[in-house]
Amino acid sequence: APVQVKKICCIGAGYVGGPTCAVIALKCPDITVTIVDLNQARINAWNSADFDLPIYEPGLEDVVRQARGRNLFFSTDVDKGIKEADLIFVSVNTPTKKAGVGAGFAADLNYVELATRRIAAIAESSKIVVEKSTVPCRTAESMRTILEANSKPNCKFQILSNPEFLAEGTAIQDLLSPDRVLIGSLQTPEGKDACASLADVYAHWVPKDRILTVGLWSSELSKLAANAMLAQRISSINALSAICEATGANIDEVAHAVGRDSRVGSKFLRASVGFGGSCFQKDILNLVYLSESLHLPEVAAYWRQVVEMNEYQKRRFSKRVVDTLFNTITGKRIAVLGFAFKADTGDTRESAAISLVRDFVAERALVNIYDPKVPHEQIWLDLAEAMPTTPSATIQKQVTLSPSALEACKNAEAVVIATEWKEFKTIDWETVYAGMNKPAFVFDGRMIVDVEKLRNIGFKVTVIGRGE
Ligand code: NAD
Ligand code: UGA
Repeated sequence: APVQVKKICCIGAGYVGGPTCAVIALKCPDITVTIVDLNQARINAWNSADFDLPIYEPGLEDVVRQARGRNLFFSTDVDKGIKEADLIFVSVNTPTKKAGVGAGFAADLNYVELATRRIAAIAESSKIVVEKSTVPCRTAESMRTILEANSKPNCKFQILSNPEFLAEGTAIQDLLSPDRVLIGSLQTPEGKDACASLADVYAHWVPKDRILTVGLWSSELSKLAANAMLAQRISSINALSAICEATGANIDEVAHAVGRDSRVGSKFLRASVGFGGSCFQKDILNLVYLSESLHLPEVAAYWRQVVEMNEYQKRRFSKRVVDTLFNTITGKRIAVLGFAFKADTGDTRESAAISLVRDFVAERALVNIYDPKVPHEQIWLDLAEAMPTTPSATIQKQVTLSPSALEACKNAEAVVIATEWKEFKTIDWETVYAGMNKPAFVFDGRMIVDVEKLRNIGFKVTVIGRGE
């Protein structure tokens, strides 16, 4: 019979583990949830008295305020968390491998393996172990082999796959009312019981018909498939945006017309400077690697093109800036508004803004960056990593971090909108215009400005997916 879950441990207190398990704690007062991480600074931030949490996510602070100290705890004592739990989420990072076999494509499963080995070494009773991290298809099998080979004789492990579909910036909303919760298990009686135990946790707040239970391998593959198909829509619309710019069609109108077909749907058809975030590129490359390992080169090439189109879109946008500014931006000041990979997050992983600033610096432009949520030290880290051969003194000389959008635009030749922060829709453009060199250019990489209004002020406006 299914075990009733009373204690949950989540290994990994990051963008997924933190919000996900905070919401579980909020909705399941009868379950004690402990989120553990090796990173002391991160745990300290989760525990900070003034709720200065390690990640910015609308609504998160409120959830943590309600549950922390009641049935939600954050700790660096990984072993204690493992020992006490009936169910353990593994929510550690799975970045793209940087070296060795599959470098640049395959997922680095080292953190998953280390966490799994720790569970095997420490557990003194049977556990349900849940893959929350995004992993290649059949990773659960490796986890099971490791657990079975290293555990104490009285410990039995059931492994479930429960991928997370939240998007940053809307994580709390996504967790409170998910389109679906996906749970994969082996189709054995024990596997199905474990699946029922986890389904009961979600049933505290998620309607039963939204909890999908499937086989283990389908669940693992569905996560990669979902991200690949979402990213593919963006690359498709971005590919069409290039045709729009060359023909006078307007990508906004095209996307609207195409999306009105209920078979296509209107979401995720916003042309942009290119998608960013920690997962789309990583997960597609992971799928490409999987396809290649399975000797399916046509399948691999198909998905690889989604990432290549995205690289093209980023390059194309920075080139358009240079072309429009009379083919040179050397010594010119460019304001980059937004550095996060999307609005409502402080996360910059794979942000298109990083590529744009790198290209501008390479052209010897002076760049002012403003983002309302990204910490300054993070911007410096990202730029150093993006330009490994450029001395940091050069980067510091060419790049300035500005305290506001207005400040960033002062004395600039061009304003480039890289992130769709709401506040960029209500900038005082008259003041911006007065403070800029002329002609004053605006490049909207997110389709958020009122083009007519800006042109009336005097700006030369370039929008993604629109001809001049
Ligand atoms: P993250 O880097 O923010 O967090 C991972 C945390 O795990 C880090 O704090 C790290 O210190 C900790 N950790 C690593 N190894 C550990 C160990 N052995 N013991 C204890 N702690 C350990 O990563 P994230 O963005 O939360 O992503 C986690 C996983 O979820 C990834 O597989 C990712 O693909 C997937 N995912 C992410 C998102 C997203 O929006 N960020 C959405 C869905 C799925
Ligand atoms: C994405 C998925 O939406 C989540 O379902 C998934 O759980 C997550 O990846 C993950 O596995 O990490 P996230 O990357 O947080 O979530 O944010 P998205 O809203 O998907 O945006 C990703 C990127 O695509 C952003 O740079 C965004 O600006 C861009 N985008 C999105 C577009 O350019 N156009 C669109 O129409 C939509």
